[in-house]
Amino acid sequence: MKPKTILTLALCVIGVAGCATRTSDSEAERAVAEMIKASFKTRGQASVDRLKQDEVQALCSKHAGELPKDASDAIEKAQQATIRYPSSGKLIGDWRQGERIAQSGTGKQFTDDPARPAGGSCYNCHQLSKQELSFGTIGPSLYQFGKLRGASETVQRYAYGKIYNAQGYSACSNMPRFGHNGILTEEQITHLVALLLDPDSPVNK
Ligand code: HEC
Repeated sequence: MKPKTILTLALCVIGVAGCATRTSDSEAERAVAEMIKASFKTRGQASVDRLKQDEVQALCSKHAGELPKDASDAIEKAQQATIRYPSSGKLIGDWRQGERIAQSGTGKQFTDDPARPAGGSCYNCHQLSKQELSFGTIGPSLYQFGKLRGASETVQRYAYGKIYNAQGYSACSNMPRFGHNGILTEEQITHLVALLLDPDSPVNK
């Protein structure tokens, strides 16, 4: 056989085999969802309901985080509209309490008492202070956040809103939506805003 014929034959085989085993995207998605569902069991407050993606998460998964601009603008607008600011109007709480919340990685696991307040585990993704030796780098460093940006009302509202619902500012953010998903209370978020903006906080030293 001439080399060209062999090549053509080989391509045919690959092509046919490919056609015969090809599953549609939706079938593959269903199979993956089933596999994930079969791997988890509800234990206490850690329920398998958490596997259900809301509309925004489903869209972001579908586009692997690369949404068309008009879709991401629409998500950010809708997610910003969910942000609830404290009725007192006071967005800056106590940075000392904020530091404890930022450093605490407890809450929402089946081993945690659901009656106790959850932590924010901010250090898992962000550098917060100079003293901190171990921190995650999924998110940008927040060291000197207030020193660099000031503490104007706009900055306060942005910091509060970002922690409440990160997807209001970045449609497919990997940061948990702490207020929106009921992980942290409004008051806890004001303590974190203080941690980021108060000049006395270790973040701004
Ligand atoms: C799972 C990782 C993760 C955790 C946990 C996390 N963040 Fe983030 N955060 C990110 C990522 C990623 C970004 C940057 C992308 C974006 O804008 O969403 C970010 C961005 C931010 C920003 C905006 C920074 C800027 O330059 O404008 C602030 C403020 C922030 N995070 C605060 C917090 C606080 C406070 C906590 C704890 C309550 C926290 N984050 C927990 C991942 C995380």
